[in-house]
Amino acid sequence: MLELKLQFMGNGIDVRIDALSLPLGSGQDRDPNFATARPVRLTEMPAAPSNGRTFYIETFGCQMNVHDSEKVAGVLLARGYRLVERPEEADLVFYNTCSIREKAAQKVFSRLGQLKPAPNRHGSEPGSSGAGTAQDGRVIGVLGCVAQQEGEEIFGRAPWVSLVCGSASYSRLPQLLEELEGGNRRVMGLSLDTEETFETEVTSRDNPYRAYLTIIEGCDKHCSFCVVPHTRGPERSRSSAAVLAEARRLAEMSYSEVQLLGQTVNSYRDPSPHGMNFTRLLVAVAQVPGIRRVRFTTSHPRDFHQEIVNAIDACPQLCDHVHLPVQSGSTRVLQAMQRTYTREEYLEKIAMLRRARRPISITTDIIVGFPGETEADFEETLSLLDIAQYDGAFSFKYSPRPNTPAEDWPDQIPEEEKGRRLAILQEKQRQIQIARNEALVGQTCEVLVDTRSARGNQWAGRTTSNRVVNFTSPRESLLGEYAQVRITRAGPNSLVGGEVI
Ligand code: 5AD
Repeated sequence: MLELKLQFMGNGIDVRIDALSLPLGSGQDRDPNFATARPVRLTEMPAAPSNGRTFYIETFGCQMNVHDSEKVAGVLLARGYRLVERPEEADLVFYNTCSIREKAAQKVFSRLGQLKPAPNRHGSEPGSSGAGTAQDGRVIGVLGCVAQQEGEEIFGRAPWVSLVCGSASYSRLPQLLEELEGGNRRVMGLSLDTEETFETEVTSRDNPYRAYLTIIEGCDKHCSFCVVPHTRGPERSRSSAAVLAEARRLAEMSYSEVQLLGQTVNSYRDPSPHGMNFTRLLVAVAQVPGIRRVRFTTSHPRDFHQEIVNAIDACPQLCDHVHLPVQSGSTRVLQAMQRTYTREEYLEKIAMLRRARRPISITTDIIVGFPGETEADFEETLSLLDIAQYDGAFSFKYSPRPNTPAEDWPDQIPEEEKGRRLAILQEKQRQIQIARNEALVGQTCEVLVDTRSARGNQWAGRTTSNRVVNFTSPRESLLGEYAQVRITRAGPNSLVGGEVI
């Protein structure tokens, strides 16, 4: 068992979770955007008096969702709910959903299907009595992007659902829970018209070493492929004072690595009179005593400036990694995507990063088969990979999303062709990563250790450049520590080595 730190009104409360049980080198977490489902795994209760009810929450999608679930879990724990590990054991089952691509959205409905109650003895359909509960009295809630996107229709498709709430309405969750506890069978929070961010008194972080910290929610960029502005609402930044107070609490709870989160994290603008921009906030967080590593994701190229690179140069706590989604290497496609930069402007940002004093790892997101993407456009994306030399890339087939401009453009690319382009692109990027990682063999890297294998002397963690390193050490207790690891082998997605003692 490992300790899990819980943030509770400024005081650290420790609860315990099962040891992080990721298989070594599984590449878990490699894709920050892909819809992997993960249950929150607390197993013991914090101090709030029990209300006798239990909950289960499972998360699909990006780190923002993972962290939102940590905050939702905090709201529930503070109300006296107890977390359980399986939906069958829970009085309240929450799915925090992702709709970035069609496949991700579909997953939720298949999960909900598994919870469909059997028809009752009189043969009527579940939910036909108007009750929104599953037959066994369980309350089921859909949170996040699918909730926002599908809204009330979820009750039609899955009448056993009782709560539908988008992320822009999470500050109303306590009220919605109260209504549910009072016997109301259908409650909804779907307003996008908000200037609020989701502030919680309790956040139950499920990673004991790396803490997520939201600084900005929503998105105002309106890329023509992207559903996020419709599901997460307009950009809202938290006050710098709230962010810094949270960073200090995290340090007090002995977190040494903090990851600042936002759909467009570098578009941060302090709404308070301090008026900090993203770079000033970044540096201020890095200067909190006890914080040893600061990451941030995801940056929009439009708001990525030299100032950020200067800050990385000046501030050793800022990690050697920037995630800078390009989406396409063709200016024509970028324009159709409404990305607001050209291929050349983007490559200038890459050049800026390459001129930094220390090597900065760069990762990206790419969409293939955007409507109208020609073979020549695709070739431009391939040639951009050669120039940019990314250390990692998450690549996707374009998926038409509801309410987005590109959804019904006439020149959609056939699925098979999208698949062909994706396979070519991924193979090319794989070769680039093999070469870049092989260049690290023989070097010594600092690794924040977060995983121990069942075999005992095998450990894993991440470098400041966000590479996964699997390594051996004769030491007994390494979790949460920074180890110096000499790299002996390299693969496309991870490194192998041994601790230098
Ligand atoms: N189809 C495919 N990929 C998408 N992404 C966002 N919207 C879509 C879509 N409609 C990808 C982008 C983005 C990442 C989070 O998901 O690459 O950066």
